[in-house]
Amino acid sequence: MEKVSPVCSRCGDSGWELIRENGKEFVRRCVCAEEKRRRTLLEAAGIPALYRECSLENFEIWNPQDPTLRRAQRKVREFVDLWPEVDKGLLLMGPVGTGKTHLAAGALQSLILEKGVEGRFVDFTSLVLDIQMTFDQKGAQRELMRPLVEARLLVLDELGAGKVTPWIMDLLYYLVNARYVENRRTIITTNYSDFPSATVEKLEDRVSTRIRSRLYEMCDRIELRGEDFRKERRAK
Ligand SMILES: Nc1ncnc2c1ncn2[C@@H]1O[C@H](COP(=O)(O)OP(=O)(O)O)[C@@H](O)[C@H]1O
Ligand SMILES: [Mg+2]
Ligand SMILES: [Zn+2]
Repeated sequence: MEKVSPVCSRCGDSGWELIRENGKEFVRRCVCAEEKRRRTLLEAAGIPALYRECSLENFEIWNPQDPTLRRAQRKVREFVDLWPEVDKGLLLMGPVGTGKTHLAAGALQSLILEKGVEGRFVDFTSLVLDIQMTFDQKGAQRELMRPLVEARLLVLDELGAGKVTPWIMDLLYYLVNARYVENRRTIITTNYSDFPSATVEKLEDRVSTRIRSRLYEMCDRIELRGEDFRKERRAK
């Protein structure tokens, strides 16, 4: 991330730049004001410390045998480059450790810093815990959900992790659907896939069929099939 000097040489941190032109003086908004706004947005976005250094640039194509790595990186990059001309969000699916959260956090960070997008990161498990704590308090629930509904871009990480009650599933549907009808983009990561396997449930078994089918309409699916990056690193 680009560092700003503590005091802006153009405006002395007032946010307004004094311009002299043809013997006239006037002030205009300094460019550092937008830089500051983006930095504040980034801090407010809720990207976990572990993922703050993740970017699309430092996502390595470490296994050339795995075509899903390069494809995922390319699709996420495309999403960032085309923003706001993107008509769908992204659904990153695949086993643990394949870099889904890395890519999602990297996209969010790029969009905030490069395009000033007001975005939020939320981890599904913490969201469920937060919702549980608002049990019986409708007002608190609305306050909790509002920034997530309203964010121009939401990253919902690890969808389907943990067992949730039907009541929480309803709130989750509300969140997903409210973003859908307001035409807002959502990036979702999940360790569950659409294909049944002997050991792992399908995504729709975790989050209900109606949420999964909503997600079909809202997101382009990106499948990561590769190996666990962390395990690979430890082995080296
Ligand atoms: N292709 C990659 N290049 C660089 N770092 C990676 C890559 N894939 C995963 N990582 C790193 O490995 C760790 C696990 O990745 P993560 O994104 O949390 O996986 P997932 O969300 O798919 O379980 C993170 O620290 C992440 O930055
Ligand atoms: Mg993850
Ligand atoms: Zn300035």
